[in-house]
Amino acid sequence: MSKLRKVFTETYGCQMNFSDTEIVMSVLSEHGFTGTSEIKEADVILLNTCSIRDNAEQRVLNRLQALSSMKKKNPSLLIGVLGCMAERMKSQLLEDKPYIDLIVGPDAYRDLPALLEQADSGQKGINVLLSAEETYADIQPVRTQSDGVTAFISIMRGCQNFCSYCVVPYTRGKERSRAPETIVAEASALFEAGYREVTLLGQNVNSYHWEENDSNIDFPALMIMVASINPLLRVRFATSHPKDISDALIKVIARFDNICNSIHLPVQSGSDRILEKMNRRYTRAYYLERIARIRELLPDCAITTDIIAGFCSETEEDHQQTLSLMQAVGFDYAFMFKYSERPDTPAAKRFEDDVPEEIKTRRLEEIINLQQKLSLQSHKNEIGKTRSVLIEKRSKRSAEQLSGRTSQNKMTVFPAADLQAGQYANIKILRCTAATLIGELV
Ligand code: 5AD
Ligand code: SF4
Repeated sequence: MSKLRKVFTETYGCQMNFSDTEIVMSVLSEHGFTGTSEIKEADVILLNTCSIRDNAEQRVLNRLQALSSMKKKNPSLLIGVLGCMAERMKSQLLEDKPYIDLIVGPDAYRDLPALLEQADSGQKGINVLLSAEETYADIQPVRTQSDGVTAFISIMRGCQNFCSYCVVPYTRGKERSRAPETIVAEASALFEAGYREVTLLGQNVNSYHWEENDSNIDFPALMIMVASINPLLRVRFATSHPKDISDALIKVIARFDNICNSIHLPVQSGSDRILEKMNRRYTRAYYLERIARIRELLPDCAITTDIIAGFCSETEEDHQQTLSLMQAVGFDYAFMFKYSERPDTPAAKRFEDDVPEEIKTRRLEEIINLQQKLSLQSHKNEIGKTRSVLIEKRSKRSAEQLSGRTSQNKMTVFPAADLQAGQYANIKILRCTAATLIGELV
């Protein structure tokens, strides 16, 4: 690989994808490539893509259109599509966008150097094979997008829950977990390098499990291993499926001060009828019971969620059930979406996408408005409390201001001259907005 050196990457979609880009850069840097943040300097442009909703795909397709004119001016430039869209749209991309040189799915990143070589010699480099084993466990991600304080560690890949709306089981394949000792080694190395927070990532972290000889490590056991590295290393995790958020896990969170009091538990809908059609495999009552259990064992725990508005056949009454569930839980934060039909998913095959666009929009607005009130309330409840904040950076706007997050994952700003990123500070919360807590050192 003589000519090709500089690689420019752009990442779309979820945190898993950002982690994958770090794996990609690690694989490539072992083969003589370097990253660049200047697109104009790049010999290779890689887009790591997301298929979760149609608008995510449209953004990438527009971006590719813009890149095609760069390629016209510089024919030796290589353009690659990685990730979920590569997996889902391989044939369509080949047909509609002949200027794309590489199409590489989420389980084929080890093959990238060879595929780039192939593309450089004029043949398209394509590999969209999914694997039942690949976890990239031995690859040390290049921490390109990190602040040096917080990092993400991917602990499992794939998903086989088959929620009827979701494309992930088809783009990322079967669930598989990574050996626990490789996860602990990665977290320990991060701690030694000055990092103070790791987030364990997976499409469904509660399904993590590893069996070898006599040992059987499930997610709570893994959390104990990572939290035991050092009390100064905070541990977070995402995402959990409500059907398997167990008492054992909640108790482990309660036992360790350095496991953060923050659980992301996507509910998607508050209506039993819709939950059933979504194949979520829990009911509203079950979800509320799990929330009650979290509140009982972790009274100080933030709870965040994902909500979809306007799923197939959703009635006004179903929608009201979602709003009332949001009220009942009092979510601290939510990611909220309009349902977007994904080709070839069970919902696309079996149900009609029959909620009109303007109704989806109105329902989503109602959900967002309610969540804004709930988020503000959750911040107001913090006023007067003292929280331990892990400092992440100095504010861009004012050099005296530092920012970081509480265990509950709430962004907090405060003035302090002598402290720096990576340190903990006890902060009394004085004021708030819906997005930020404002406090002072105690
Ligand atoms: N349409 C809208 N939102 C979706 N999500 C997943 N699939 C779809 C879809 N087809 C949302 C869910 C999930 C989050 C990652 O994205 O809320 O939890
Ligand atoms: Fe999609 Fe469900 Fe898997 Fe989440 S758990 S990625 S919503 S299939």
